[in-house]
Amino acid sequence: MPNDVEEGGALDASAAEEAARIARVDWWSIFGGEHEYTAQREFVNGSDRLHQIWLGGRGTGKTWGLMLKALWLALRNPGEPRPGGSYRLCEGAMFGRTAREIDHKLAPYFEEHLRTFQDATGINLLAWYSGKFDCYTLINGARIYKLSYGRADALKKDRGYTLGWAVMDEVEHAEVNSRDAFEIVLATLRHPLAKESTLAVATSPNGLRGVTAHFLKKLRAGDPNYYAQTATVYDNPYVDDVFRERLKSGCSPRMWRQEGLGEILRPVEAIYDFEEGKHLIDWRWRADLPYILGIDWGEAHAYACAIQIDENSGRWVVARERKMEDGSRPKFREVVLDLVRECARAPYMIATDRAVRSENNWAMGTFSDVCEGGIRWAKSRTQQHIAWGVGAVEYMLNPPAGKGIGQDDDPRLVFSRELSGHLETAGRGLRGAMINYRYRRRRMDTGEYVITNDPETNTPNCHPCDALRYAVISSVYDEKVHGGRVLPYVEAHPLGSV
Ligand SMILES: Nc1ncnc2c1ncn2[C@@H]1O[C@H](COP(=O)(O)OP(=O)(O)OP(=O)(O)O)[C@@H](O)[C@H]1O
Ligand SMILES: [Mg+2]
Repeated sequence: MPNDVEEGGALDASAAEEAARIARVDWWSIFGGEHEYTAQREFVNGSDRLHQIWLGGRGTGKTWGLMLKALWLALRNPGEPRPGGSYRLCEGAMFGRTAREIDHKLAPYFEEHLRTFQDATGINLLAWYSGKFDCYTLINGARIYKLSYGRADALKKDRGYTLGWAVMDEVEHAEVNSRDAFEIVLATLRHPLAKESTLAVATSPNGLRGVTAHFLKKLRAGDPNYYAQTATVYDNPYVDDVFRERLKSGCSPRMWRQEGLGEILRPVEAIYDFEEGKHLIDWRWRADLPYILGIDWGEAHAYACAIQIDENSGRWVVARERKMEDGSRPKFREVVLDLVRECARAPYMIATDRAVRSENNWAMGTFSDVCEGGIRWAKSRTQQHIAWGVGAVEYMLNPPAGKGIGQDDDPRLVFSRELSGHLETAGRGLRGAMINYRYRRRRMDTGEYVITNDPETNTPNCHPCDALRYAVISSVYDEKVHGGRVLPYVEAHPLGSV
């Protein structure tokens, strides 16, 4: 796409100048709305430092504010009019995790801001939009690309841009490492026309890691190129207590501190907050209760567990398990059949991994007539879904006050003491796996080790933990297994948002 747009019909230097003047003096009388929201205002145009972050809980107006910042930066970084009416454009970009997230969440706010500006001033800042190239061009010669960065292949393509400024949403919750994404986008900020180069990111924190840890280090060292703003869900005057309460009741206490209060928690390496004292119970198999069979098919290693469900309270007890090492698929089918025979009734539901089609077909052929809740599998293996599923399991392990068993904070998910308690690899079942399941560590260029937000893969802990996760994610909307309502976690964390 050429930088010089000869025809430039709607580029308009005098209207652009007028818009810039209005923006300088009247910004908050245009965008201020009904309430004053100081933290957001500060983030939008309180600083011109190169590196900026807004760390806020969920629903704190990060995306709304970030898109207003994009507009602010586009007006501060105009293109260059040339004799004869052509323009040299100055490009910037809004980065979202996926193209879908940009279209559904970022772009609508940006377009709303353009309309608000036009309603207040009569000036339509948008010269044209190109669907083909996914970009807006404003009347001042600023262009705003819509770029996704959240997956490795998308991030790789981003390297080739030359930008004056950029904003990134949810940087700590993408599939790619936040620090890598940040550095790659930062390296694109080299546009010769840029007057106010800024890379502004907004995110809810995900522990003291990645970009968050980097900012903290720089700010503590007094680096004048870094700026941070924070907010809790109580700060945003545009959401109500119903929203806050729904978020709180859909979060484990640890999640709430991060997602509601925007706290930067020390990263823990263990994925689950699993304590034997809290999560183990004495349990005898109860023939009257339904059970869910969670299965992780593997080539040589495989795992299945039977989880008994108390339909009244919604409490889950992982009661029996089978593990296969160095076996084969036919052999594991026998293992599954044997477990079902021992349970003396058909499972209510079977939850598996979608990747192994042959085994899923076998399970369908064998059990679909007798499984009331069906045979289900996770729809995607993307990390977003792993993180989402891990969150759902953690929620059941440690529900918030009032959302556990008996309106208390008692766990919704417990484990029979009769399951193997071995920690060594050979005899390790789900109990040992819950204790050992970890986030991967990574060595940074600086030599320091950091804890990532990628769960380990292909280790002895994964098969049992995956089987359990499949059981949870396949049933979050099934009221029958959660005490007569959907798991409150999904009300605060709707699936498919990315
Ligand atoms: N200044 C504002 N004026 C009007 N409404 C606002 C303002 N800031 C935020 N909102 C509203 O608050 C709600 C949350 O905003 P937003 O989606 O930007 O939050 P978020 O922090 O990005 O949330 P999430 O964590 O879910 O991504 C939205 O309904 C949005 O329209
Ligand atoms: Mg958002």
